[in-house]
Amino acid sequence: MTIVPQPPVAQPAPNKSAETVDPVYRQIRDLVYKVSGIYKAEEKLYLLADGCARRMKQTDARTPREYWDRLTAAPSRDAELRELLNEITIGETCLFRSQPQLDALRKVILPEIVTEKVKQVTKRLRIWSAGCSTGEESYTLAMNMLEESERLLKGWTVEILATDLNDRSVETAKAGIYGDYALRNTSDLYKRKYFSTVDEKRLQVRPEVKKLIAFSRLNLQDDSKMLFMKGMDLIFCCNVLIYFDGASKSKVINHFFSDLNFGGYFFLGTSESLMKLNDQFHLVHFPGTIAYWKPSLSSGKL
Ligand SMILES: C[S@@+](CC[C@H](N)C(=O)[O-])C[C@H]1O[C@@H](n2cnc3c(N)ncnc32)[C@H](O)[C@@H]1O
Repeated sequence: MTIVPQPPVAQPAPNKSAETVDPVYRQIRDLVYKVSGIYKAEEKLYLLADGCARRMKQTDARTPREYWDRLTAAPSRDAELRELLNEITIGETCLFRSQPQLDALRKVILPEIVTEKVKQVTKRLRIWSAGCSTGEESYTLAMNMLEESERLLKGWTVEILATDLNDRSVETAKAGIYGDYALRNTSDLYKRKYFSTVDEKRLQVRPEVKKLIAFSRLNLQDDSKMLFMKGMDLIFCCNVLIYFDGASKSKVINHFFSDLNFGGYFFLGTSESLMKLNDQFHLVHFPGTIAYWKPSLSSGKL
């Protein structure tokens, strides 16, 4: 009898029990953490393994060890790491995700910032949506700023910077095409005013909204880039830090503090807080939400 040697086949995704996860996934977990701050705890390691399994198929890596080589050996490593990050980031979002934040912004924060900046003879507002996913948060902010363009922000320049680690999300964000799920909280009034119809299922954000926003890929853990994000009046980093551990959170928050102008505000997602992470920001309560304030020079609260 002749035995025909069989080619090795790609290993299936490991099952969800931590003990059965190939130890190579822990090495990959540590690499992902080092680069992006995203930390997959032991009980979530299977999610990373699932993402790796999808990339293993694409790269013809037959074992986790071979995939590790793709991730660490030149010339493929940078591109492959980027692809893996695209695979494992969680981009859950929607337009008008937090109405209490928007109310606080329009009713209290914006009038306050406008008053302060007018004293400095500046009519330029800079907003950063950090971890913007597929763009819904940044378009929501842009539409709300346009609503103020004939009142509070008359004669002002508004610049919204929207960044994310996932370059596929950034490309989707640039297109600005959304279906029912993303639009579930968007009123008919806003739909009529700021969207055009693509087909019976999808709407596209109009050019006058898009024009306020610059989208780009940015890794919040990349210190060299974060140092150049100065001069922000408002930073929204909602539902992003939940994927980081304490050390990566603290580092990013310190960058946000120095990137904000004095008198600027920082928003997190509704279930997040800066407790035990930063004591430079002042916590401010609004109906149904909170925000963090970097005291203004004139406040005497520095
Ligand atoms: C759940 S979404 C939040 C989207 C939006 N901010 C919101 O609240 O609706 C989290 C986003 O954080 C991004 N992200 C995770 N780690 C990141 C990092 N190190 N740098 C930049 N973005 C990151 C993910 O790619 C993902 O799009």
